[in-house]
Order: sequence, then C-alpha cells, then structure tokens
Amino acid sequence: MRFSTVLAAVAVYFLPAVVALSPSNCNTSNKARTGSDFVLEEQADNPHVKSLAKKLKRVTVAHVFDDGNHKMTSTSQGLRWEKTSSFNDVDTSKWVPQGITSTADALDAGTYEGKDGWIVSWHRNDDKSVRVTFVNRKTNKYRHALLVYPHAADNFKAVPIHAGGIMWYGNTLWVVDTKNGIRVFDLDNIWQVSDGDGVGKKSGGGYSAAGYKYVIPQIRWYKWTSSFPFRFSFISLDRTTSPDSLIVGEYQKSTSEPIRLVRFQLDYKTRKLVTSSGKKAKGTWAYCVGIERMQGAVSANGKFYISRSNGNNRGDIFGWVPGKTARKNGGIVPRGPEDLSYDKRNGGHIYTVTEHAGTRYIVDLKVSSIKTS
Ligand SMILES: *[C@@H]1O[C@H](CO)[C@@H](O)[C@H](O)[C@H]1NC(C)=O
Repeated sequence: MRFSTVLAAVAVYFLPAVVALSPSNCNTSNKARTGSDFVLEEQADNPHVKSLAKKLKRVTVAHVFDDGNHKMTSTSQGLRWEKTSSFNDVDTSKWVPQGITSTADALDAGTYEGKDGWIVSWHRNDDKSVRVTFVNRKTNKYRHALLVYPHAADNFKAVPIHAGGIMWYGNTLWVVDTKNGIRVFDLDNIWQVSDGDGVGKKSGGGYSAAGYKYVIPQIRWYKWTSSFPFRFSFISLDRTTSPDSLIVGEYQKSTSEPIRLVRFQLDYKTRKLVTSSGKKAKGTWAYCVGIERMQGAVSANGKFYISRSNGNNRGDIFGWVPGKTARKNGGIVPRGPEDLSYDKRNGGHIYTVTEHAGTRYIVDLKVSSIKTS
C-alpha cells in the first residue's frame, strides 16, 4: 500500500510536466520537436587552406562571375543550361544539379563584389566529386568550379559526397553532406589551376582540377552529433530572423521515416553557427513536416516555402505558416524541383533548380505567386 502510494505521488508530480517528444519519431499528433535535441559540432578549421593559398593564384568571386565560358538560355520554364553539339549540361548523366543560392543570400545588399548571380551545386553520378556553378545574371553566362578538400599542406582532392542543397553566407559557401552534417567552403580562397584531368598536385608541378579552371577549398565542417540519424538534404538562409538563421531539412520518399526541418542560428560577424560550450550548435526549432518527397525549404518573414518533386510530373511548392495547414501550389514548377533560396529584392522571389535530364532550369518565382496557408 505504502509503496504504490509513493509511486502514484511520483506519477502525479511528473506527468503534467512537459512530455518531451522523441526527436526521431514523428508519429505523434503534435509535430513540434525540441530544437536543442538536434546538435551539430563545429570542427576545427582546415590548416592546409593557408599554406595552399601561398602556392596557388587566388581570384575573387567577381572574377569568376566575369569569366563565364557557357551561357544559359531564357525559356518559358526558366533559364536552361547550355546545350550545343559539343557541350551539354541539359542532358548529361554525369552531373545533376541539386542546390541553389544567390548573392541575395551572401549579403543583405543582394549583390557581392558588385555582381548579381546564383551559385548552383551539382552532384556527380558516382558521388565522388562536387562542382558548383557561378551564374552571372547580367549576362546569363556561367562557369563551373570544383569544390576541393585540402588533405595536405601542398595538396587537395575532390570532395567525395553526394552534394545536396547549398547556401551562401558572406565569404562562406555551405553544402550539406547527407549523413554527416554540413561542409563549409571558403570563397576568400578561390584558386586558379591549370589544365589536367587529375585533381590536386601535378607530377610536373602546378595543380589541376579535372579540367575545371577554379577550385574552392573546404575550410571547416559541422558534424552531426545527436544519437539519432538526420538526413541533410537541403539548406537555406533566413535573413528575416534575428539573428540570421538557416534551416536544414530531409528528403524522404515516405513518411515511414521522419521528415523534419530544423533551424540553427548564425553569427554574421564570424559567418559561423552560434555555438555554446564544446563548439556545439543546437537547433532552436524543429518540426515534423511530413511532406513526402520534400526537396527544399526556405523561410522568410515567418512563412515557409517547400518544394516537392513528383517523379516525371511537375513539382509543387507549398506555402506554410506554422500553426496552419500547408497550402499546395500544385505543378507550378517543372519536374524535379530541388533546393530553394529566397531573395527579398523586387517584391520577393524564390529560386529553385530542377534536376531531370532534358528539363534542367533555374526557376525564378515571385513570392506573390505562391499561395500560403
Ligand atoms: C511511424 O509510422 C510509420 C507508418 O506507420 C512506420 O512505418 C514507422 O516505423 C513509425 N516510426 C516509428 C519510429 O515508430
């Protein structure tokens, strides 16, 4: 009698307190999760970037934007990649566009070193290398560059991941690394290399990057350290929060797996995640969104915009205000929409890239054309 009375008292004491919902199980009616359960740990800066910088020719972001060697074509669906008899980014199976960010993410002013443009990420079909594309909006000309990992004081190699979404913040370029977290690349160190098929130091001296003229080195990364898995599929910047923040989210075919969005805070002075002791960055918000085939999401002014792919059918964009049901804008983008990016200029725009061979575009949507809940 006495023992069970104690148990009952304990239960009464604890049950009304906040019941922490599992961050890794979305099968509850309350879809909000505790942001701080989602933890990324900042890893030390790569020491080889500095030594390599002394050996290689450095160029600016503006220089790369002005050195386009291919051109996009304006179509009713969006800007299409170059397709000629000798070069074809529209149909190639070797590279697939995945992520998009713009100079409007980089700096609040919307331009960077006087340039207005996008950076798009592509994964290689074997996921053993990543390239990014600088698209100059004034000329529609573009240039690919290779992301590299400096593994020695005098050498670098390709970045062997499936690159997903991408985000540009000041002089840093953030690329999601599906199971591991986020990699950050240094736009203050874009290096020009010479011709050659290899990646890194050439036997005869100098450097090459699989035929690409420029490389961008990884400066640091954020390691996923929570005990449960999270799938880093896409990333976007929100400059309308204080401080600035980013959201990362998960692609899943079906809700048999959790499909979540998480927000982390950014420090505009260091261009890093806000961390506490132990260099740990904890999420400040997390939510079980549960939209199957979610490929990208971006938030601005308290509203979320979410892309969904539908196989060979056109893609959807959801407009969502937390607390309400997301509203579907069915088929408003070509098939295969991916990552999203927001630009407050000219009344507000959302950008995406579409991935399927044959229908690869940069799509520019007016925010006013997307209905929200
Ligand atoms: C959530 O529900 C789905 C669908 O019923 C199921 O496949 C999945 O295993 C559940 N997840 C957990 C963690 O219980």
